[in-house]
Amino acid sequence: MRVGFVGLGQMGSRMAANLVKAAHEVTVYNRTAGKMQPLLKQGAYSAARVADACRGEAVITMLADDSAVESMAFGNEGVIASLGKGCLHISMSTISVALSEKLAAAHKEAGLHFVAAPVFGRPEAAAAGELFIAAAGDQGALDACMPLFDALGQKTFTFGDNPSAANLVKLSGNFLIASAIEALGEAMALVGKAGIDRGRYLDFLTSTLFGAPIYKIYGALIAGQKYEPAGFAAPLGYKDIRLALEAADKFRVPMPLASLLKDRLLRVLARDGEKLDWSAIAQLAAKDAGLRD
Ligand SMILES: NC(=O)c1ccc[n+]([C@@H]2O[C@H](COP(=O)([O-])OP(=O)(O)OC[C@H]3O[C@@H](n4cnc5c(N)ncnc54)[C@H](OP(=O)(O)O)[C@@H]3O)[C@@H](O)[C@H]2O)c1
Repeated sequence: MRVGFVGLGQMGSRMAANLVKAAHEVTVYNRTAGKMQPLLKQGAYSAARVADACRGEAVITMLADDSAVESMAFGNEGVIASLGKGCLHISMSTISVALSEKLAAAHKEAGLHFVAAPVFGRPEAAAAGELFIAAAGDQGALDACMPLFDALGQKTFTFGDNPSAANLVKLSGNFLIASAIEALGEAMALVGKAGIDRGRYLDFLTSTLFGAPIYKIYGALIAGQKYEPAGFAAPLGYKDIRLALEAADKFRVPMPLASLLKDRLLRVLARDGEKLDWSAIAQLAAKDAGLRD
């Protein structure tokens, strides 16, 4: 397919590379132009403006947050003004339910298709083409996305024709991951303070009742206290818990655990700045227990 790719951060750079590898004709755009260089060497074309990445059948956006997506989607030279009639915008960022609804309405009014397709998986999974994709949008548009999703992920799950459903699924999933990180952090602090080897403890957990990827991936980061460089930065994690709570507010669903996690992430940001991985909330449990390492 002829496809544009907007947003070459930790995730987008790896995802765009997989589309090139799968022989799609990819035109990339990134706010910081220097990040386009490696992709150009791999065979992508460059766009000087976001509008120039919107000349094909579809454009994918993989941007940090709501304000980044809004700034790229709306306006005279944005995605909505630049895509050809009947073409497709696939938003793969983790954004709010409210913005997804606004985007769906604006695309419909402009005669465009809009699919929300946020992903599970860190940059390593993106590089390996092993993301899990939660997608929603009208069926014809979802069908058109499949060759792209096949190059980006190992499996795509669809959630109906209302795009914001996929965003809610993603936000609720990140709430679950953050809950597992907090629980692992507290458990590791407990066994660690008692002098039990954390690596051996993790091996026991993940070889028995806790064999899920989340426990394996985050358990290894916590046992090794490896919070830098961030694969998924704490500000993005904070954003996702905030957005889950925003959706909970809209649907009138109390989520006391999400409120606690928001506070934990805010504490990481306040103490350590923006650089750490979001799994650094586990460090708080260790520090609260008086552990130094
Ligand atoms: N990292 C993960 O493990 C992971 C996993 C699943 C989902 N996600 C989600 O995927 C999305 C991207 O994450 P990431 O880790 O790739 O983030 P990232 O490395 O911080 O990259 C963010 C991208 O957004 C662009 N951007 C930010 N603000 C912008 C603005 N105002 N205008 C234009 N472009 C802007 C950045 O451009 P510059 O290069 O110019 O800064 C960059 O291309 C996020 O929604 C995140 O929640 C991440």
